[in-house]
Amino acid sequence: MNIALIGSGGREHALCEKISNSKIKNKIFCFPGNAGTSKIATNIDTNILNFNNLLRLLKLYKIQLVIVGPEEPLVKGLVDFLNKNKIKAFGPNKFASKLEGSKAFMKKLCKEKNIPTANFQICNNTTQVLKFLKKNELPLVVKADGLAAGKGVTICKTKKQVLNISKEIFKGKFKSSKKVVLEEFLEGEEASFFIIADKYHFKIFGTAQDHKRVKEGDLGPNTGGMGAYSPAPIVNFELEKKIIKKIVKPTLSYLRQNRNPYKGFLYVGLMIKNNEPYLIEFNVRMGDPECQVILPRLKTDLIKIIKNTVNNNLKNINIKWSSKKCMTIVLCSKGYPGKYKKQSIIKNLGNLKIKKNTFIFHAGTKFKDKKLLSTGGRVLNITSYGKNLMNVRQEIIKVIKKIKWKDGFFRKDIGWRVINKNENN
Ligand code: AMP
Ligand code: GLY
Repeated sequence: MNIALIGSGGREHALCEKISNSKIKNKIFCFPGNAGTSKIATNIDTNILNFNNLLRLLKLYKIQLVIVGPEEPLVKGLVDFLNKNKIKAFGPNKFASKLEGSKAFMKKLCKEKNIPTANFQICNNTTQVLKFLKKNELPLVVKADGLAAGKGVTICKTKKQVLNISKEIFKGKFKSSKKVVLEEFLEGEEASFFIIADKYHFKIFGTAQDHKRVKEGDLGPNTGGMGAYSPAPIVNFELEKKIIKKIVKPTLSYLRQNRNPYKGFLYVGLMIKNNEPYLIEFNVRMGDPECQVILPRLKTDLIKIIKNTVNNNLKNINIKWSSKKCMTIVLCSKGYPGKYKKQSIIKNLGNLKIKKNTFIFHAGTKFKDKKLLSTGGRVLNITSYGKNLMNVRQEIIKVIKKIKWKDGFFRKDIGWRVINKNENN
């Protein structure tokens, strides 16, 4: 089977690696992929948002199944477009993708279905912002309604900041929407919970904890994610039941009632307080870097799972997981999430000897004249698994120290919550 994988990050390299190990014989084409995927698949350099050109290429390479990694093509309706053109695709359709594509849509759904989430107000003008400010205590969270490439959320400590940021969004700072969602600030511990769903059923697809802040000790600005581990021990059995009953089932039933059942991976971003889950956000895809720590623990054939999902037969597959703990540390370009250098040479990756349980997933890399270059803020994801996260982290850091790249940095404290709490973790 010829498979197309859409995207170019660490998540897609991890998906590509897993697909390449499938027992179902396949040939993978990455659109556009990165230097890591080029070793196990054929990279096709193209703009994934130009759907007509993408369709031409998919036909040229006789693709039978398309797996979509990132949110933007999903929110813009790639799955609907491919299905209309008789190509099977894994991922939610345009309507269901509004769970991530519009925070206002997601919040209205929460209200209708009584899903626990932060109190909020959808605002179209300054008067509405001022009204919300009068009734609520600081800090407050200002969110752009539409997709904002991870830059749409600001936690504000002053009223002035809330007003200024809202005004910028009203003026069109983000092209996707001019609406603002104001929210109360939730305290607690964050966790990422995943499911996979077809038209009729869903199954849990792992848990993880990401580290969003750039600096050790969870300080500094937000990033796309500096490292993660799976599973997330905070998601105990009791909490899992609550997440499913209070958040997952009402959401899936809402979409079914609206004749747009959810299909694909769904990322449930949570704040946990006193063993109660509150929904922060939905993402209509796997997380990045969460995917890189969940997939190495997956024992069931990924292509079998995806094929069953696309054919609405998820019920008949048993998804098995390893009990090992997995961690990834993101090696970033110095300066990220601000300005950073691109096209900087990473010298010796090809010659590094790493253990069988360790992977280097590429995120922002490419080959040019046989040299490996960085192309983004998040560049490599050094990933490993084992019985004890402290040892796993030591192993990862050992590998990072061998990488000859002068323009990189990383957080040494990934997993601090679980490693410091419990020596035997
Ligand atoms: P989002 O894009 O909605 O996931 O927001 C990005 C990050 O901002 C989240 O991962 C949280 O760390 C933080 N955040 C968003 N909303 C809230 C909230 N209501 N209370 C506290 N933190 C939040
Ligand atoms: N790790 C955060 C995200 O994938 O959005």
